This record gives sequence, structure tokens and C-alpha cells, in this order.
Amino acid sequence: MLTRWQKFYTNDPKLGSIAPSQCAGEAARLFAAAGKKQILDLACGAGRDTRVLLSSGAVIIGVDAAFLD
Ligand SMILES: C[S@@+](CC[C@H](N)C(=O)[O-])C[C@H]1O[C@@H](n2cnc3c(N)ncnc32)[C@H](O)[C@@H]1O
Repeated sequence: MLTRWQKFYTNDPKLGSIAPSQCAGEAARLFAAAGKKQILDLACGAGRDTRVLLSSGAVIIGVDAAFLD
């Protein structure tokens, strides 16, 4: 069964160009300042914020119920 989000990700050809959320950069700075080594981005979607969190220097694990082809 396709979820609503699965359909969204499947139908959007510009998925890779969606801008990150406004708080993603600040979250990355806070994680870096706290010395976090691993971050779980639960319900990461297509990873728009997951990519920003990489700037924290931590290992980022993104998990989502929907899948991408
Ligand atoms: C509003 S979107 C946000 C996606 C991403 N965090 C972003 O900001 O682009 C919500 C996401 O939660 C995911 N989701 C919903 N229920 C979930 C669950 N039980 N486990 C994992 N992911 C889930 C959906 O597939 C969808 O990608």
C-alpha cells in the first residue's frame, strides 16, 4: 500500500531540489557544539534536512517509512 508520502515522493521529479527547513542549519550547529557523533533523522523523507545535518560532522542515519526508487 502506498502512503500519502510515498505518492508525494514518487510523483515529484524535483525532489532533490527541495530547500531544507529553516531550523536544519541551526540544529546542525547545536549538535556540533554538543559534540554529537551520531544523529538519527527519524522520518527523514527524501533527506533534505539529513544532508544539512552532515555539516555537524556527525554520522547521520536517516530513516523513513516511505521509500524512493
Ligand atoms: C512532513 S514529512 C517530513 C519529511 C522530512 N523530515 C522533511 O522535513 O523533509 C513526514 C515524513 O514522515 C514519514 N513517516 C510517517 N510515519 C512514519 C513512521 N511511522 N516511521 C518512519 N517515517 C514515518 C513520512 O513517510 C514522511 O516522509
